[in-house]
Amino acid sequence: MTSTLPPIGVGTDQNTALEEDFEVDHDAAVETVLNALEIGYRHVDTAQIYGTEAAVGEAIDRSDVSRSELVVATKVHYQRASYEDVLDSVETSLEDLGLETIDLLYVHWPAGTYEPEETLRAFNELHADGVVANVGVSNFTPELLDEARELLEPTIFAHQVELHPLLQQRELQAYAREHDHYLVGYSPLVRGSAADVPELRSVAERHDATPEQVSLAWLIQREKIVPVPKASSAAHLRENFAATNLELDPEDVERIDDIDRERRIIDFEFAPWNR
Ligand SMILES: NC(=O)c1ccc[n+]([C@@H]2O[C@H](COP(=O)([O-])OP(=O)(O)OC[C@H]3O[C@@H](n4cnc5c(N)ncnc54)[C@H](OP(=O)(O)O)[C@@H]3O)[C@@H](O)[C@H]2O)c1
Repeated sequence: MTSTLPPIGVGTDQNTALEEDFEVDHDAAVETVLNALEIGYRHVDTAQIYGTEAAVGEAIDRSDVSRSELVVATKVHYQRASYEDVLDSVETSLEDLGLETIDLLYVHWPAGTYEPEETLRAFNELHADGVVANVGVSNFTPELLDEARELLEPTIFAHQVELHPLLQQRELQAYAREHDHYLVGYSPLVRGSAADVPELRSVAERHDATPEQVSLAWLIQREKIVPVPKASSAAHLRENFAATNLELDPEDVERIDDIDRERRIIDFEFAPWNR
């Protein structure tokens, strides 16, 4: 049972789920998570739709890291969000993960079959039964967060959203501070294009770091903000993990805070901000 999140997590989406006939490279996913655990990551982010829960489970099983040190987070698919489907799909997630409990279970999207009363009733039950230690939501707006907070018995532990220097989510950061939940940042490397952001390149040069590390450190330095970068190679995993030791100066932070260009990477039509 976790009450805090480690400063960085590892993402496990191979970004293939929307491709036709997509196939997950199971062995590559196992290898990534095993490498991540060896490097020191203690928070693994997966989801039913990624198809990597079994790989995460296999890596946890094969690694020497004890279960109690780990935060395993997964997300209920937006088409499996009815009351019955949540209970069923979480049972499958537990089997695939080879775990008795999930440390953090998110509503992946407030879309598809998400019906606040029904979906969150199942989340309340899973939490009350001890199957799920903490409840989270992902890709919500402030209005949807308000509604979910009314219906959930446990307090929201984390809200996961796209978060990086080109999508700073100032309103959701303020909301997270006000309600004291974690803001977990996905695509924190601007999906691999942090090096295209001149401000990150220039701060990186001053610190003998990489733009990717600067992008991560800018998030990690904030209270209760946790990025979940995805990286396939051990070298990238190590580089990203080292960002937990990179200290940016106030002027570096200000320089990045001041970026006013915006680039949203994940922008499905069904996203609540498009409705
Ligand atoms: N809740 C949601 O709706 C949602 C949506 C999207 C993502 N997510 C979560 O967030 C995680 C990360 O998001 P993401 O994959 O979209 O974006 P990301 O982490 O910003 O970027 C991943 C890309 O960056 C590259 N990369 C990683 N480390 C690097 C480094 N040090 N230097 C240069 N390139 C580097 C990776 O390449 P290599 O693989 O070759 O290392 C990969 O192409 C996902 O895996 C998933 O767990 C959640």
